[in-house]
Amino acid sequence: MYQGKHVLVIVSGGIAAYKIPQFIRDLIKQGAEVQVIMTQAASAFVTAQTLAVVSRHPVYDEHYLHTNTTAISHLDLTIWADLVVVAPATANILAKMAAGIADDLATTALLATNKPIFVFPAMNDQMYAAAATQRNLAQLRADQVTVFEPENGFLAEGYAAKGRMPEPTTMVSLIMNAWQRQQTAAILAGKHVLVTAGGTREAIDPVRYIGNHSSGKMGWALAQAAYWAGATVTVISSVAGPQTFPAETVKVTSTADLQAAVDRLFSKTDLLLMAAAPADFRMSTPAANKIKKQADQAQLQLTLVKNPDILASLKPLRKKQVVVGFAAETQRLLANATTKLQQKQLDLIVANPVGRTDSGFDVDQNQGTLLFADGSQQVLPLMSKIAMAQTIITAITAKKLL
Ligand code: PMT
Repeated sequence: MYQGKHVLVIVSGGIAAYKIPQFIRDLIKQGAEVQVIMTQAASAFVTAQTLAVVSRHPVYDEHYLHTNTTAISHLDLTIWADLVVVAPATANILAKMAAGIADDLATTALLATNKPIFVFPAMNDQMYAAAATQRNLAQLRADQVTVFEPENGFLAEGYAAKGRMPEPTTMVSLIMNAWQRQQTAAILAGKHVLVTAGGTREAIDPVRYIGNHSSGKMGWALAQAAYWAGATVTVISSVAGPQTFPAETVKVTSTADLQAAVDRLFSKTDLLLMAAAPADFRMSTPAANKIKKQADQAQLQLTLVKNPDILASLKPLRKKQVVVGFAAETQRLLANATTKLQQKQLDLIVANPVGRTDSGFDVDQNQGTLLFADGSQQVLPLMSKIAMAQTIITAITAKKLL
């Protein structure tokens, strides 16, 4: 989601500045372009050369400004930026920001920008708890600056307390979540969204199972998009997700587990997004011990029984819930999806082709067609699963289904 985004990172003088090169690398890995301003104090903790090498841009510190008379101005950088991150943010720079003081390039740029600002306070725990710091943070929040709480952990002082800057990968996720929630219209605010993700496994014996290729990526993308749209999210999944946003999670293995979890949570749900791929059949009786092959054995026959259809079984329980299913098909995509839409009495089915390499199972992209209960359709060309998830949620709310 950082693809093509311009991030201006302002580094102030705290020990946590040692994490900034990795933070910049993580942003670039996600597709961002990064430029850096560093304060005089920051240069005691990280070198401009390191930051220039990792950001692949000159670093705007006092030395650069004094030796480059045609140097880029604070306004050029703030116009260039899509968002501004202050990390680590010392008590000093927070105080200047809260008071509107602009006495160096960093604070001048912060005063001059009208782009979203995200700050990561990192300091000694007593400095963080000090009334002045808390007053300044309250002022910054009132000024629409996003302030991330420091973490509890081992501080440079040699003891554990609240004051640590989060790890770079966490920072990257925190910023994107906060930014997306600010940018995305809060179309699901106050709604509880239940998402199912991943394929289920049915035990054959204690070492083997019947499964499918579902990786859970589509389901977790839907959960992420629902969170960005302001929802409270619960994910029932057979696979662990990226854990980059707050969501209640329920781990399941079999279709029976999945059904029990959906049944338990359905009454408090406003929108169910059923992206999981439950096994349609299970062993009539899983073997208690590992099935051994015999020397003269050419075949093994397993007796399977049908699993319940979870979506269909929800019909009598439905009140206000909007229910969305997915149809994974290798042939007759729209015809088969339409039958499922009707049989399961869904509000919407997402028909997506599977059995190909560019989309469907276990890849980051997907495509398909939205088939609504009112007969209308919307084609979704090949796109990332997160973009598809956002498109699905926008389409649901545009139809005023919720
Ligand atoms: O997880 P990924 O690797 O990202 O792949 C994503 C996906 C291809 C798995 C996903 O986009 C998708 O299509 N999920 C639905 C897979 C599936 O089970 O499709 P189906 O056509 O067999 O089932 C139709 C619908 O009924 C689905 O919403 C399914 O969750 C539901 N179902 C199926 C079986 C069952 N016993 N009970 C159900 O409720």
